[in-house]
Amino acid sequence: MKLAILSRAPRAYSTQRLRAAAEQRGHEVKVLNTLRFAIDLSGDEPDLQFRGRRLSDYDAVLPRIGSSITYFGTAVVRQFEQMDVYTPNTANGISNARDKLRATQILSRHSIGMPATTFVRNRADVRPAIERVGGAPVVIKLLEGTQGIGVILAPEVKVAEAIIETLHSTNQNVLIQRFVSESKGRDIRALVVGDRVVAAMRRRAEGDEFRSNVHRGGSVERVELSPEYEQTAVRSAQIMGLKVAGVDMLEGADGPLVMEVNSSPGLQGIETATQLDVAGAIVDYIGNQVAFPEIDVRQRLSVSTGYGVAELLVRNNGDFVGKTIGESSLSERDITVLTLHRGTQVVPNPRNRVALEAGDRLLCFGKLEEMRSMVPERRRRRAKVRKLPAEPLPAATEG
Ligand SMILES: Nc1ncnc2c1ncn2[C@@H]1O[C@H](COP(=O)(O)OP(=O)(O)O)[C@@H](O)[C@H]1O
Ligand SMILES: [Mg+2]
Repeated sequence: MKLAILSRAPRAYSTQRLRAAAEQRGHEVKVLNTLRFAIDLSGDEPDLQFRGRRLSDYDAVLPRIGSSITYFGTAVVRQFEQMDVYTPNTANGISNARDKLRATQILSRHSIGMPATTFVRNRADVRPAIERVGGAPVVIKLLEGTQGIGVILAPEVKVAEAIIETLHSTNQNVLIQRFVSESKGRDIRALVVGDRVVAAMRRRAEGDEFRSNVHRGGSVERVELSPEYEQTAVRSAQIMGLKVAGVDMLEGADGPLVMEVNSSPGLQGIETATQLDVAGAIVDYIGNQVAFPEIDVRQRLSVSTGYGVAELLVRNNGDFVGKTIGESSLSERDITVLTLHRGTQVVPNPRNRVALEAGDRLLCFGKLEEMRSMVPERRRRRAKVRKLPAEPLPAATEG
């Protein structure tokens, strides 16, 4: 294949290793400076120029987008997607992961362990927010920090309040997060490629530092992950929309707590710690997937007016229980079942002979009008189990 590595650091360890791994496997590979692209929307089809000339044909790109150029970088990746060039990490995936709040929000409905996190803006909401995640000491994070910069451990509520107010006053948004003290100075980085963890390491902070980032002087060692940690890492990357990702997890008392998912994970620390060929695994994966450029299903399918995707529920005493998909009248109504979800089980492309059970969820494509009556009621919020002391009753009403 012909592979472009998008990077502004051709001499960096990760870039060099990826390039060498691709060359070793007989691929044609170029490192292209992300900032030298021009997105060209002047012709009949989406196009790209590089250093002022029309870009030649590539089969795949591997984006390594630094946090200082997220907007332009993801725009370039999105343009490759429009041109049907395969990328393991989509523009959406990179944007999702880059913002720690956005990532936490997206993961939060998928039963993935995460440190208790909250986000507020009004001065009056700061103290209750700190209490909600367990009080001081408490972690305060800039939304788009990396390498440990922008992550603060505030020892007392008053100090935390002062820091947050100061940051708010300079228009910086911050997360407030429970300090996971049982994992102080220690965390796990799992390198996910496709649907498996190809390498994992434990990082330990230097001295009394609580951040274990390699850039903060942390040391690394190879670690064998339990299935729980492995699945959490893989699912987090998948939910985020990333096929190459570095998932950071704290070792909580009850299992893994995902802090963030990195879309351009560095390779030096993990290859040194594990002596594994992570770059090779990434290139092999891209080589296998190159025929399947990412398709934005929602965007493509909704081009046919009146049609769309919906999740239908097989109701307890509804018409479908006990019938097979073939007998269900769905196909007569122009509805195609894409996947069947039963508990934690997923059946892709379920056959007509599959019998439906109460509680099954069917991801369907079809005429929206036909599906309307079968759409389940909105998710109800479960009553929250409070482990922390209850807050005083709110004085004001919402709104
Ligand atoms: N809630 C927390 N509890 C304990 N330690 C934390 C917490 N959040 C972050 N840390 C420590 O700080 C480091 C950096 O945090 P992280 O959210 O990964 O930001 P960055 O993007 O800067 O790496 C982590 O690797 C971990 O060692
Ligand atoms: Mg991190």
